Amino acid sequence: MAGADTCSIYVFDAYGTLFDVHSAVRRHSEALGPDAEKLSQIWRYKQLEYSWIRALTGRYVDFWTLTERALDFAFERVPGADRSKREILLGAYHELDAFEEVRSVLKALKENGAQLAILSNGTPDMLQAAVSKNDLDGMFDHILSADEVRSYKTQSVVYDLAMTAFRCFPEAISFQSSNRWDVAGATAYGFRTVWINRTGDLDEYRDLSPVAQFKDLNGLLTL
Ligand code: LAC
Repeated sequence: MAGADTCSIYVFDAYGTLFDVHSAVRRHSEALGPDAEKLSQIWRYKQLEYSWIRALTGRYVDFWTLTERALDFAFERVPGADRSKREILLGAYHELDAFEEVRSVLKALKENGAQLAILSNGTPDMLQAAVSKNDLDGMFDHILSADEVRSYKTQSVVYDLAMTAFRCFPEAISFQSSNRWDVAGATAYGFRTVWINRTGDLDEYRDLSPVAQFKDLNGLLTL
């Protein structure tokens, strides 16, 4: 368990880290058919690509709209998937499942005196819906959305939101993400980072490495 000399501010990425982005398609995979997983992968990847390009060009469009556009692209790419499920999938994405260890790890960190926050590209509405759906209300000191600054990670203006919220230096924050690119961005920014490598991905961005890598959030309790 984290002691007095370790970080007591934990900031979490939302999608892929706390909430399972593939749970929306998985809930309806039978109806979607054999290409359901491909649809889900393309949906997620396009959503991220759109956010990077929007941030780089300064042409902000909110994350919910990007999520809708990415799903439409995925349906184009996977013509075998039943397009009539569009609204149902979007509804499911609004209320994604949390990974199974999330609640117990957050609770343990909190009981140890840690302050907790979400820092995500998701809109405030999306983040609140996912938090409430998983009964995590009251768990976080701050739910920080990139929408506040109309940009996306890995722009520093987004990571700045955590600094402003906690009034601390970057190295005082432990930032957890399952997205290796987000870990790279947060490391470059100056956070102490932990990669939650849920899918056993290959390491990348070797010059922007996390201080630790775990397969799920339980690892945080061993630091
Ligand atoms: C987020 C995405 C990037 O929650 O996973 O910010």
